[in-house]
Amino acid sequence: MENPFEITGVYAREILDSRGNPTVEVEVYTPVSMGRAKVPSGASTGTHEALELRDGGSRFHGKGVRRAVENVNKIIAPEIVGMDVTWQRDIDTIMLELDGTENKSNLGANAILGVSLAVARAASEALGMPLYQYIGGTNAYVMPVPMSNVINGGVHAGNELDFQEFMIMPVGADSFREGIRWVSETYHILKGVIAEKYGKDAVNIGDEGGFAPPLKEPHEPFELLIEAIEEAGYKPGDEIAFAMDPASSEFFHPDIGKYVVNDKEYDGGELLELYKDLISKYPIVSLEDPFHEEDWENFALITKELGDKIQIVGDDIFVTNPKRIRKGINMRAANALLLKVNQIGTLSEAIDAAYTAYRAGWGIVVSHRSGETDDPFIADLAVALNTGQIKTGAPARMDRNSKYNQLIRIEEELEGIAVYPGRKFRNPFL
Ligand code: PGA
Ligand code: ZN
Repeated sequence: MENPFEITGVYAREILDSRGNPTVEVEVYTPVSMGRAKVPSGASTGTHEALELRDGGSRFHGKGVRRAVENVNKIIAPEIVGMDVTWQRDIDTIMLELDGTENKSNLGANAILGVSLAVARAASEALGMPLYQYIGGTNAYVMPVPMSNVINGGVHAGNELDFQEFMIMPVGADSFREGIRWVSETYHILKGVIAEKYGKDAVNIGDEGGFAPPLKEPHEPFELLIEAIEEAGYKPGDEIAFAMDPASSEFFHPDIGKYVVNDKEYDGGELLELYKDLISKYPIVSLEDPFHEEDWENFALITKELGDKIQIVGDDIFVTNPKRIRKGINMRAANALLLKVNQIGTLSEAIDAAYTAYRAGWGIVVSHRSGETDDPFIADLAVALNTGQIKTGAPARMDRNSKYNQLIRIEEELEGIAVYPGRKFRNPFL
């Protein structure tokens, strides 16, 4: 008899992402299902991320992914066709062996990840199971609190704001659906507040759908947000809290060994004081990449000083890599992990990264990239892993809303079972 779980075909193509850059889309076929996955791409990428293979040359200004696509169609496909689509870990391991490099530079992490995610989706479809349940099992039920990036700066926007992300978290809501409504209402009021203060042309949006008004100082976005939240009828702090990702690797200048924020130079200690000042004035509950990707000492210092009070999240420093996360755990360099599947390149390794962080008592934030697609995979992943947090942009642009909308569907499907952790986003089980 025909095995319904046998992989009968694997096919990749080059498509466009949310920034209009090429990316990899993969389809995996079984006799009873097809799983499709699309690969995201960062702008403020960590140096130690798995390698995204780009063609170079003049096509797409060098950003073409025809080599990655060919690697799927000619090298990976023949190896995994015939395998059982539910053997996720075997398939991921075979791809690692085929690649043979530490950072997936041979086949490309974009090639490998596309297959890895499409395999998971094809398996869940073949089993007739929702993706979050296939990955997370019968106990996947925690909805994530959104970290919604409503003011964009850094390399994601054309303004002069050095800090990259100013996010709102509806911690006082009692369901995901209600939380995302609060976020949407606040976002629209914020638009009015910005238009009134800076004019109509100041409400253009950045890569992650947040507004990019002409601000410079790191405290200015928080002032606008307080005003918007109050005008929307919510209480800053109690109901809607703040998260921030300065993405400080981008404004660290190795030549002078200093961070430069709004033309002022800061050493690590001075930057720590700036963060402390912001945290004392505004209800900030989560701070990501406060220092650059090799500044382990200052990460450890800020975690020691502020880790009891707020979440310290590592993104570029850990790059979802279990080895770097282990170093972070040993050094107490953070208390939370930003989980980006394309930083490491396979679903199995991303889940390993999550387990490594969990076992150290860390929080986990499943995250999109600034270059995204309409693929909502990470929405399912956040529920599958019961992380309690997701960072996936402003409630604008379908590359961001596809994730929020998938979470609305999942919560509906899990009615009576789903738990929205609210203020307990760092550890929904404590
Ligand atoms: P990126 O930014 O996707 O451009 O790397 C997101 C982040 O820094 O968290
Ligand atoms: Zn980041």
